[in-house]
Amino acid sequence: MRSFFFVLALLATVSAVSIDVNDKDSICEAASYVANGELNYYEGLKYGGTVGMFASPNYWWNAGEAFGGLLDYFTFCDSGNKSLEKLIFNGMYHQAGDQYNYIPSNQSLTEGNDDQGVWGMAIIAAVERNFTDPEHSWLSMAQAIYNTMNSRWDTKHCGGGLRWQIFTWNSGYNYKNSISNGCLFHISARLARYLKNDTYAKTAEKVWDWMEELFFHEDDGELVIYDGAPIEENCTDHTTLKWSYTYGIFMSGAAYMYNYTEEAIWKQRVEEIWQVASSFFFDDNKIMQETQCWNNGDPKCNNDQRSFRSLFSRSIQLTSVLVPDMYDEMRPYVEASAEGAAKSCSGGSDGVTCGQNWSTGKWDEVYGLGEQQCALEVMMALLARDVDPPYTSKNGGTSKSQPNAGIDSQDNINENELKITGKDKAGAGVLTAIVLAIILGGAVWMLF
Ligand SMILES: *[C@@H]1O[C@H](CO)[C@@H](O)[C@H](O)[C@H]1NC(C)=O
Ligand SMILES: *[C@@H]1O[C@H](CO)[C@@H](O)[C@H](O)[C@H]1NC(C)=O
Ligand SMILES: *[C@@H]1O[C@H](CO)[C@@H](O)[C@H](O)[C@H]1NC(C)=O
Ligand SMILES: *[C@@H]1O[C@H](CO)[C@@H](O)[C@H](O)[C@H]1NC(C)=O
Ligand SMILES: *[C@@H]1O[C@H](CO)[C@@H](O)[C@H](O)[C@H]1NC(C)=O
Ligand SMILES: *[C@@H]1O[C@H](CO)[C@@H](O)[C@H](O)[C@H]1NC(C)=O
Ligand SMILES: *[C@@H]1O[C@H](CO)[C@@H](O)[C@H](O)[C@H]1NC(C)=O
Repeated sequence: MRSFFFVLALLATVSAVSIDVNDKDSICEAASYVANGELNYYEGLKYGGTVGMFASPNYWWNAGEAFGGLLDYFTFCDSGNKSLEKLIFNGMYHQAGDQYNYIPSNQSLTEGNDDQGVWGMAIIAAVERNFTDPEHSWLSMAQAIYNTMNSRWDTKHCGGGLRWQIFTWNSGYNYKNSISNGCLFHISARLARYLKNDTYAKTAEKVWDWMEELFFHEDDGELVIYDGAPIEENCTDHTTLKWSYTYGIFMSGAAYMYNYTEEAIWKQRVEEIWQVASSFFFDDNKIMQETQCWNNGDPKCNNDQRSFRSLFSRSIQLTSVLVPDMYDEMRPYVEASAEGAAKSCSGGSDGVTCGQNWSTGKWDEVYGLGEQQCALEVMMALLARDVDPPYTSKNGGTSKSQPNAGIDSQDNINENELKITGKDKAGAGVLTAIVLAIILGGAVWMLF
């Protein structure tokens, strides 16, 4: 394998991605190799492929995560590229689902609150970057995501919180977790800032307070964010795994809250999360790693976990802009990680395929969509100050608002609040049968 790739690498015109972290052109050129590598996994342009989906083993949520990164790459580096714009637009819009709430009916065997939430992060980014608006505006769809997620807030167990899963039949329905709640917190904070509307900020506060009571934990003066807990023990039997994207999503959500409210407490929360994240998710040379599954030189990260640093990198990028004081603090970590990532992008038959371990100075023979995503987004974090900050509705953003979007299209089938919607086919079928029986019964009665 090694010699095979070695020979091909010699034949290729480019055999590594080089990057000058202080030069935008160099960063964008490096990123173009990484983005093109990422698009090798895109199914939407292939014969028989599904628009908006990436090759197996990547699930629906991985696509939402990928589009968030590609959207930044388009905005920061390649905004004149019509074919890339079309690819992102079509891919993101196609997966919105019949009710434009990012609960497509054919993903109900995999979609959890966190999956919808990660798509939500990409959709609200389209709003903030003023990305070409479709007929059903990005903002209305972000609001639909917010409304449907918030409607699942479950006070019957553990005093509140979202469950991991949306649908009762998926395993993990009885688990409440930080990433799902982090997504609701994060999206609420972004909508609050974008629309200057306190209703969303109140939701963000509600989620934070609940998290603080149950899943944030002070350990030796450091903030630990638990992964989650089953409802059976009233969410007290915690799983302690630490994932970079969870810390990132809460940190950047708090950054939006600080930028919107200007309250010192939110800045303090950003600093607290960064303090622990910057020591746990980086090596001694400030190079980013997914420490939980790094496993002492023998990484055991699964396909999902291999992509988490993309959302963590995006969160650092956003935080360093929305809390300007954090920029200088974060910059050395971003530079070291982006340089390491670029060096890892020297594998495969094209000579620019990215690897997993950015500390080795070369490709480590691990490759996939996750490796491309993480490398792309850490490079984009270098450009935090080279583009306009995320727009608001008062300043640059033009996507149309529809506050009630999604409210009556709730695919909300919590056991506690069984609702009959157009999507709840079994329920709707029973209702139709009853109505038909009444009509028929009446007709039969009238005949006599
Ligand atoms: C536009 O983007 C696509 C996809 O990233 C890429 O293949 C193509 O080379 C780009 N076109 C130009 C002119 O840069
Ligand atoms: C799911 O639904 C979308 C949109 O209706 C459709 O294009 C796609 O082929 C379906 N299947 C999969 C696996 O996404
Ligand atoms: C369950 O946890 C919530 C939140 O901490 C608390 O308010 C509630 O009293 C607990 N219920 C029981 C039965 O312990
Ligand atoms: C990553 O590479 C560094 C430097 O070679 C090595 O020390 C470390 O053990 C590697 N980590 C993993 C998880 O392989
Ligand atoms: C909010 O973000 C903008 C854009 O980076 C920045 O200019 C402004 O100072 C931030 N507000 C606060 C309170 O830090
Ligand atoms: C946002 O997009 C609209 C519609 O394309 C455009 O008219 C407006 O100038 C854009 N705003 C910015 C700040 O680019
Ligand atoms: C703020 O958002 C809420 C929730 O979507 C909405 O009901 C309300 O009308 C909005 N307020 C204003 C002033 O737009």
